[in-house]
Amino acid sequence: MKILFYDTKPYDRESFERVASQYENLTVEYLKTDISEKTVSLACGYDAVCLFVASDASAPILRALAECGVRLILLRCAGFNNVDLREADRLGITVMRVPGYSPEAVAEHAMALAFAVNRHIHKAYIKVRENNFALIGLTGMNFHGKIAGIIGTGKIGAAMCRICHGLGMKVIGYDMYKNPSLDFVEYVELDELLAKSDLISLHCPLLESTYHMIDRTAIAKMKDNVILVNTSRGALISTEDLIYGIRQHKFAGVGLDVYEEEQENVFENREDDILESSVTARLLSFPNVIVTSHQGFLTVEALEAISKTTLDNAESFRLGTPIAENIVK
Ligand code: NAI
Repeated sequence: MKILFYDTKPYDRESFERVASQYENLTVEYLKTDISEKTVSLACGYDAVCLFVASDASAPILRALAECGVRLILLRCAGFNNVDLREADRLGITVMRVPGYSPEAVAEHAMALAFAVNRHIHKAYIKVRENNFALIGLTGMNFHGKIAGIIGTGKIGAAMCRICHGLGMKVIGYDMYKNPSLDFVEYVELDELLAKSDLISLHCPLLESTYHMIDRTAIAKMKDNVILVNTSRGALISTEDLIYGIRQHKFAGVGLDVYEEEQENVFENREDDILESSVTARLLSFPNVIVTSHQGFLTVEALEAISKTTLDNAESFRLGTPIAENIVK
């Protein structure tokens, strides 16, 4: 089975190369470019294409893939909102994904952001490099003994609960479903979580019901000097309302791995560009805000798990027994 990978970065290729040798009957080739109407024809002669979270798998692209003889789309990510599933089904193209890889990778990044904004590591790093050894402006708080409010206690939220518990924090959670593995977590209503928490971390998916769940009203309910972390999806937070809250001095710190306007920026080096969105520029202008570019998943372990599941998906399809829970319909 021949698979063509689109939109690959060096870390993707390294990770897949390490795993690919275990699959004798899969041949893998990599492209740097993403799939588009111009590049889709490169897939002619391949059985499958491997795409990433923002690749264009709209109906015209799928039709071109089908004409090329591609029968399988391997998503090397959990999300699939970029694929026109109805058209894929009509064309007889199977779509498979990696539903979960390393929840700890994302939770550890969430805590890294919380630590960094709390202890001003981003400022301290620059100051010391400039021979400024003064400590003014670097005061943080102990997390030990404070309250962590975790919104969404699924796989990643649960890992974040365990990290916070390990730090000696009291952990409160909000979710429609209690996670039975978290016997140390007290489940509360959202308003109570917002009002009580010293650290709030978001780990629920972006749905119609969670869109802008952190807006001006929610921010007003939070404690002063709260730390807010988002490693889930940008649109859980209304950025305009967040900026308003930051200007009101509501937050000790804000750590964002995701933000509403990230689509054009994610995984791209845009250092010579003038950015279209002034919202991102405003966010970056605040001294107590740290933004990273959707890198929560980026650990050796997570990449290896993604590579392994993606190639397991390909192999199972090749053998005529595709792994049912990884098929997207
Ligand atoms: P999961 O499905 O295991 O857990 C999500 C939890 O959120 C579930 O327990 C669900 O009941 C809960 N939930 C749903 N609606 C809710 C609501 N309105 N309020 C509170 N809780 C609600 O998902 P997992 O694997 O923990 O991932 C969580 C999110 O992390 C993903 O949706 C994704 O957006 C994000 N993510 C970010 C990555 C990054 O690199 N920054 C990488 C992977 C995922």
